[in-house]
Amino acid sequence: MEKSEKRRETKQQSSQVIPIAFTELDEASLREYNRFATGFSEVDRVLGGGIVAGSLILLSGDPGIGKSTLLFEIAHNMALQGKRVLYVSSEESLPQIYLRIKRLKAEKTPNLFLLSTSIFEDVLSALEHLAPELAIVDSVQNLSREEGDFLPGSVALLRDFSVRFMEIAKSRNVALILVGHVTKEGVVAGPRTLEHLVDVVLYLEGDPNRPLRFLRGMKNRFGSTQEIGLLELTEDGFVEVTDPSRYFLSDGEEAPHTGVARTVLAEGKRAMVVEVQSLVHPSFLDFPRRVSLGIDLNRIHLLLAVIEKVARIRFSRQDVYVSIAGGIRTFETSSDLALCVSLVSSRLEREVRKDTVFCGEVGLGGEIRSVPFLENRLQEALRVGIRRAVLARGQGIPSRLREIECASYGNILELFQHEGLL
Ligand SMILES: Nc1ncnc2c1ncn2[C@@H]1O[C@H](COP(=O)(O)OP(=O)(O)O)[C@@H](O)[C@H]1O
Ligand SMILES: [Mg+2]
Repeated sequence: MEKSEKRRETKQQSSQVIPIAFTELDEASLREYNRFATGFSEVDRVLGGGIVAGSLILLSGDPGIGKSTLLFEIAHNMALQGKRVLYVSSEESLPQIYLRIKRLKAEKTPNLFLLSTSIFEDVLSALEHLAPELAIVDSVQNLSREEGDFLPGSVALLRDFSVRFMEIAKSRNVALILVGHVTKEGVVAGPRTLEHLVDVVLYLEGDPNRPLRFLRGMKNRFGSTQEIGLLELTEDGFVEVTDPSRYFLSDGEEAPHTGVARTVLAEGKRAMVVEVQSLVHPSFLDFPRRVSLGIDLNRIHLLLAVIEKVARIRFSRQDVYVSIAGGIRTFETSSDLALCVSLVSSRLEREVRKDTVFCGEVGLGGEIRSVPFLENRLQEALRVGIRRAVLARGQGIPSRLREIECASYGNILELFQHEGLL
């Protein structure tokens, strides 16, 4: 009896949900997305303009990279703006949290509430009791049930928690940020399935020995995933990086003379001049080593093969080490050209012009292809004082960028010959 009543009720409810005509959708419909500023414009940009009210966000990254620090700072910033915020730590005790607060010299605010627990039900009741606008759960892997014999971090439990958190986020209109750890294999521990259950997936990454951190959106239901946020982890917490190219360029006496070529990455709206470095050295192994930091290893294998075939420069008995200075990772093929130039420069010990950026994709036949967002890239190059660019023949050069001298080549062999590498 009760059951059928309930069913009737839900049926009635669902019959009220009717499709809306396309013509009735306008700018006002967008207002549904109420967004909060995090206090870091770099983070807001990656999120597509701030945290969307009622959204479920997953933040992942290696241990010690700065997830807890960043989220505490975001929680604190939002509390200072007058939002009610709950910060739950399932990994740290209150004294530990307090130590972090002192270290970050965070000013006291009555809107920020802290909870140390690893019991899911405790988190639920705190959410119910406080009705915050933002809640952080650091980390979801360390949560377990009050009762039941699931181990914390097991797949079934994580899925269940995520689904429940999603329901709460939507029904109570609270933005929830969950922290998820990354395993050695680079996946969010307790599998990728979590990623399908949330609205936004963010990764915090960087070289742990350097202060620079990159925040990437891997999935975003409310914005683009092209953006990258740059932050520096200091003693006093995170600071935004406004001049990224400064971190990526080596200058002065210590800068290497061979094996280095500059390019401009375009990560979303952000262009950055970076250095691709290669070290090519005779190998004593049957299978020479190929090691890469920041560039896909398959891309390196492919381009080595192209150079061997097209320019007849041998790498088969050489170890090859490649890295991008500054610890950034790129998935862009626009850095192919700089990579080829740095490899050949190191192999043949020829210097590369430092006043030049190389922007082009390289095809299997050695042909050089155009890159998108050229104007953006060249403007950034100019801003850091670079006045020459090597591009694909056929790439249209924006007329507004007359100050930059451009050289264009059809294929890499032609480039090597004319740029003094062969
Ligand atoms: N108690 C502490 N004292 C000094 N530095 C710390 C302390 N805790 C963390 N840090 C520094 O802050 C960095 C980021 O830590 P944290 O935000 O806890 O990382 P995550 O949550 O990603 O594991 C650490 O790598 C470390 O350098
Ligand atoms: Mg942590």
